[in-house]
Amino acid sequence: MDPDSHRTQVRNAWVAGSVILLVAAGVTTAGVCVQQMLEASRPSTPALFDHGLTPVNLQAPATWTNRQCGSCHEKAYRQWKASRHAVAATNKKFHAQCIQPFDGRRQWCLNCHAPTNPNGDLLPTEEPHELDSIFADQPQWLVDGVDCLTCHVRDGKVLVTRVTSSGQAAHPVRLAPELGTAEFCGGCHQFAFKSSHYGDEFHGQLQQASMEEFLDFRRDGGGQESCHDCHMADGNHLMPGGYSNEMLNQALELDLAASWQDQPAGLNLSVSVSAEGVGHRVPGGEHFRFLTLYTNLRNAGDPPSVIPFSEPESVESPSTVKPDSVTRVTAWPRIEIMRRHLGLRERGLDPSAGERLDTRLRPGERRTFRYFVPVDALPSGSMLTVSAELRYHKMGDPDARRFGFALSEVIHTIVRTEQAIRREGADR
Ligand code: HEC
Ligand code: HEC
Ligand code: HEC
Ligand code: HEC
Ligand code: HEC
Repeated sequence: MDPDSHRTQVRNAWVAGSVILLVAAGVTTAGVCVQQMLEASRPSTPALFDHGLTPVNLQAPATWTNRQCGSCHEKAYRQWKASRHAVAATNKKFHAQCIQPFDGRRQWCLNCHAPTNPNGDLLPTEEPHELDSIFADQPQWLVDGVDCLTCHVRDGKVLVTRVTSSGQAAHPVRLAPELGTAEFCGGCHQFAFKSSHYGDEFHGQLQQASMEEFLDFRRDGGGQESCHDCHMADGNHLMPGGYSNEMLNQALELDLAASWQDQPAGLNLSVSVSAEGVGHRVPGGEHFRFLTLYTNLRNAGDPPSVIPFSEPESVESPSTVKPDSVTRVTAWPRIEIMRRHLGLRERGLDPSAGERLDTRLRPGERRTFRYFVPVDALPSGSMLTVSAELRYHKMGDPDARRFGFALSEVIHTIVRTEQAIRREGADR
């Protein structure tokens, strides 16, 4: 007997058994059983997200609100309320970009930033109903952003990763182990460029690649933590990230070392940046985030030079630095940029366009930039000060200007370090 026919026979026996049981159990009970069987066979709404193709389908009773969840789950509510998820659709940046004529004005945006929106009738490429007045009127679904119901409710049931009798008594629950997986976050935290013509078409490289970068981290032996371990330890619904200076400060380090040399005479500087305890490239997330490293050399006592702009277009850093490569530097500040460039080629728009580099840090990487300053290019004083500063940019300067942000709102200085150097060393 082949295995398939064996399985069919077993199933038939099971079905026959059920029918006999149903008949034996009497009409009323049989009705309930049939209803339960039908219930179980009805396909349930997936817990996972579809990269913004559709809004979420909750079928929640009208009385279920975030505030109501919060009346019993007070801590989760307080943390979520202070999170980026809670302001995903009402923050200034999203508003500004969502109403842009060229790259905004699409239902797609709302499906991730305010997934409980009522526009299930629209294709992701279509303009949301009453888009401009939405931001003035602030309907509840916009205010709620990515909320309790978005992540936890499907088909009028609360998704949980463990079923308890007290939970079941409080509300209908559905066991959804998916909630505990990286794919759950990846349903929103990973996507390519959206075609403006076809509802389900994407093109180019991933503009957010948190999942893929996370899988690389795992594959390269980076550790066993998941998104949840790092971003929601102890169930922390604040889910801190690039907006948390604390998280940035603890993940990134900066070291500076200076030494004199004779042949040829001058000063060697070495500046190292490292990323620890991060499960993806740094910065990950949105492709418009980047890091800059400013190294400066001046006479001690001179005020630190004012850095006129924070997004120099002209400097390209290599994606990795060879241990023995030394750059001769005679002008200050020296600026290194660690960012992911997405040009026309990477966006899938022009295959013949030049390739742009991805120079962001890899998880666990320590990258050292080595500079040599010839003695005749040194500042004239007998005491010099060398400083290095690492900055996190939430967006580039042109975008900040375009959307009306002060640069201080979009740039965070993670570390600054400074060292005094006695000049005599140069005259040995
Ligand atoms: C961005 C998605 C997301 C949002 C928004 C969200 N949760 Fe969660 N929640 C999760 C995930 C993921 C887990 C953990 C699942 C696991 O690993 O077991 C979780 C766990 C929980 C738990 C289980 C206990 C714990 O704290 O670990 C409760 C209770 C809970 N959430 C309530 C809420 C409430 C109430 C809100 C709204 C104030 C909310 N959640 C908003 C994703 C979310
Ligand atoms: C009347 C109080 C009450 C309300 C309102 C309520 N819950 Fe619960 N919920 C509970 C209780 C009690 C448990 C069981 C707690 C436990 O087992 O630790 C629970 C369990 C949960 C769990 C699983 C916790 C775990 O430990 O894995 C999640 C997730 C959850 N609720 C989410 C929600 C969401 C989302 C809402 C709003 C739609 C909500 N709850 C509304 C009382 C409530
Ligand atoms: C329904 C879509 C959705 C899901 C699911 C989701 N997120 Fe988010 N998340 C967002 C959006 C949209 C933002 C951007 C908010 C904003 O405008 O700043 C965000 C922001 C964040 C941030 C803040 C980034 C920063 O720069 O500070 C972190 C961290 C984060 N999410 C982690 C997670 C984790 C971990 C999970 C899975 C447990 C998850 N998210 C699930 C949509 C989602
Ligand atoms: C080993 C810990 C760790 C893991 C695993 C991890 N992250 Fe992060 N994540 C961090 C740290 C630390 C930061 C802040 C440093 C930074 O800016 O990258 C961060 C930042 C972020 C940001 C803000 C953008 C940025 O990088 O500046 C987002 C969004 C994010 N993580 C999402 C995710 C998602 C989604 C997953 C799972 C697919 C995940 N993270 C896995 C530690 C982790
Ligand atoms: C598939 C889900 C998804 C879609 C679709 C989506 N986003 Fe996002 N968006 C995110 C996530 C997740 C983040 C958080 C990543 C991070 O913080 O680095 C984010 C971050 C942003 C940010 C940065 C917020 C900040 O505070 O720094 C802006 C602005 C933004 N999105 C605008 C848009 C616009 C406009 C659209 C439509 C053209 C859109 N998004 C479509 C998931 C999505």
